[in-house]
Order: sequence, then structure tokens, then C-alpha cells
Amino acid sequence: MKRREWIKNAALIGGSLSMSSALRGMPTVAPLGTATPSDSSHGYINLSINENQWGPSPKARSAMVEAVSYAYEYPAVPYRKLRDEIAKHEGVAPSQVLIGAGSSDFLKAGSYVFGGKGGSIVAADPTFNDLMQWAEPNGAKLFRIPWNDAHSPDLPALQSAIRPDTGLVYVCNPENPAGTLLDTAALKAFCEETSEKCPVFVDEAYIDFAGDADALTMMGLVRDGLPIIVSRTFSKAYGLGGMRVGYAVTTPELAEKMKSAYVHGVVCGASHVSIEGARAAYADKKWLAHVVQETAKVRQDFTAFCESIGQSYIPSHTTFVLMPVKQDSKMLADTLFKATNVKISPRFIHNQNYLRISLGSPAQMQRLQTGMKLLLAST
Ligand SMILES: Cc1ncc(COP(=O)(O)O)c(C=O)c1O
Repeated sequence: MKRREWIKNAALIGGSLSMSSALRGMPTVAPLGTATPSDSSHGYINLSINENQWGPSPKARSAMVEAVSYAYEYPAVPYRKLRDEIAKHEGVAPSQVLIGAGSSDFLKAGSYVFGGKGGSIVAADPTFNDLMQWAEPNGAKLFRIPWNDAHSPDLPALQSAIRPDTGLVYVCNPENPAGTLLDTAALKAFCEETSEKCPVFVDEAYIDFAGDADALTMMGLVRDGLPIIVSRTFSKAYGLGGMRVGYAVTTPELAEKMKSAYVHGVVCGASHVSIEGARAAYADKKWLAHVVQETAKVRQDFTAFCESIGQSYIPSHTTFVLMPVKQDSKMLADTLFKATNVKISPRFIHNQNYLRISLGSPAQMQRLQTGMKLLLAST
């Protein structure tokens, strides 16, 4: 079937791919107190950037609504409260916690502080690109080390790539875009050894989806005083991507260094309202567990679907699934988008085409799956 014909056919099955009111231009938001995923306001279903379709906890929504009345206040007080709450949970001093407008702030700061002035940065290839992307214009030399056969950062190879001028090693765990999780003991040993030579930045954006975050995290090494920077975000499991709150936990010395690069100075770039939302979300472990559980169900259903159509995939510990495809992945993603209004992320990694699909609500996944089934069978 030609691509144009396929798009026509897919459009004809529009009944089964029925549009929500949001997609017809009437954004709706799950009312406060409900546990249903929100509709998208994009005008299309975005399964390309790992947004959490369940959105923030009802308690976080209420906290943000309430905080709007105090939007005239600078965020210093909520900042200190959230910082202290995180410090208490992680067993570190408040001076070891930095809060930013998303964890991207720390990826940027890390690239500037540790990769600037011609230093080098070592990371897996591919990996989440923010830190490397910011490092390059700062004049850092980048050493990108291909994944191992398990689609994971190759820890021994990363270690071998360290040179006298290496300012930082970046490890994303779970890894984006593969969704793989490193063995905790192996990563811990890697961090211990590597941090004798240079700081290690461990990006744990998706760790809540991978199991018991407190057991999987490298925060313990920070408590031990090693030069490790662990970043976390409220954008993923807490469903606050649009509010821009993230944090980093590190040694007091490295925290000071990171602050020196921090574009917004001493107080962070996150707003009063967004920090109050993050505080309520951080306290609401019940909602977090609910979202993680629902996401695991969707992941399970989606991978079962992949198996049913003979589509291979990389087992994921996150909110997205990476799958190798035979066809040109950009063509597949464009065609799917035109026909179904579902956006996914095409990738080309080490001469292999892949699609990375963020896990949405069951209804969104149904729409995607109907389109995928037709598309993969017809191209
Ligand atoms: C691995 C990883 N780290 C960090 C981020 C940045 O997230 P934010 O700046 O919203 O905290 C993302 C966003 O997709 C990500 O995938």
C-alpha cells in the first residue's frame, strides 16, 4: 500500500480513532480530585517527549491554585521549604540541595562548570543530549561512548575514555532513549572508582518508574561525601513538566560550584506557584505510586501489543519504549502523525532506525496501536 493510500485508509477509520474534545480545540483538564489522565492541550497526542499524561496529583493542583494568591511573592520561602524537605528525605544538609527550573538547569550548569575552558566530558552514545548539547558551545571536548549490546551505557568503556582533562562523566539511569536500567551495584562501583578522577553526574529523571527509587539511587554516595551530582525532576513521575521544577543533590563544594554557573543566581528560576505544586506533589506518595502503577500497566499492555504484531522492543524501566524498525523511522513517524494525530519520536542510532514511544493514557495508546498496526503492516 502506498503511503498516501495508507493515510487515506487510516483517516477513514477515524471512527475508531475518535478525537477527544481537546484535540478538536477545546482543551479540558481533569478536574481537581480525579484520578483520570488529562487531555492534551497541544491539539495532537504527543507521545514524543515523555510527558506524564496523568498529570500532577490532585493535592499538587490544589496547592498551585492556592499559591496563585501569593504569586506576587518571590519564591525564596517556598524554595527553602522544598530544599529542606528534599534534604531531610535524602539525609543531606540543605546546602547540598539545589532547586532549578527543571533538571535541565543542572545539565546546563554541569556542562558549563565541568566542561568549560576546554575540559572534556564523557558520556554514553546515545544518551539524553542536554548536557552534551550545552557543553559543545562552551568549548568542551565530548567523548561519546557507544552503548553496549544491552543498549546501556558501557561502564568500563566510559571509564577507559577518561583523560587528564576530563571534567565530568555523565550517566543517565534509567537511560534515555533506551529505557534500560543499569545494575545498581555495578553503577555504584563505577561511581566510586570514577569519582576518584572526576565528578560523576547521574541523571535520575525516570528513577521512580524503575522500582524503589531509594534503593536504586546514587544519593547514598553523595551522603558518603563522594563528588557525585544526582539530578531529579518533577517533570516525569510527578507530572509537572510544564511547571519547571527539578533538583540536584551533591556535595557542599560541588553545590557551590554549580551555583556559580546558575543563570538565575542564588534563588532558583522556578516560580512560587510551581514550587508549591512540587512540594505538595513530593509529599503525595500515594499519587506517585498510583501513576507509577498505571504507567507500568500501560507499558505491559503496550509491549504485549508489540509482541502480538511481531514487533521487537527494548524492555523499558521508564515511561517510554524504544523499538528497532526496518523502515525509515522519520518516514514512519511522519506518516503516523499525518494519519492519526499521534506524534512519536524517530531515532537513528548506530545505523539502525528506531521509534521511541512515550507511554500515554490507555485511550491514547489505543489510538497509537491502531495506527501502528496498519502502518507497520503496510510499509
Ligand atoms: C533523562 C532526562 N533528564 C532530564 C530531562 C529534563 O527534564 P526537566 O528539565 O523537565 O527536569 C529529561 C527530559 O525529557 C530527560 O529525559
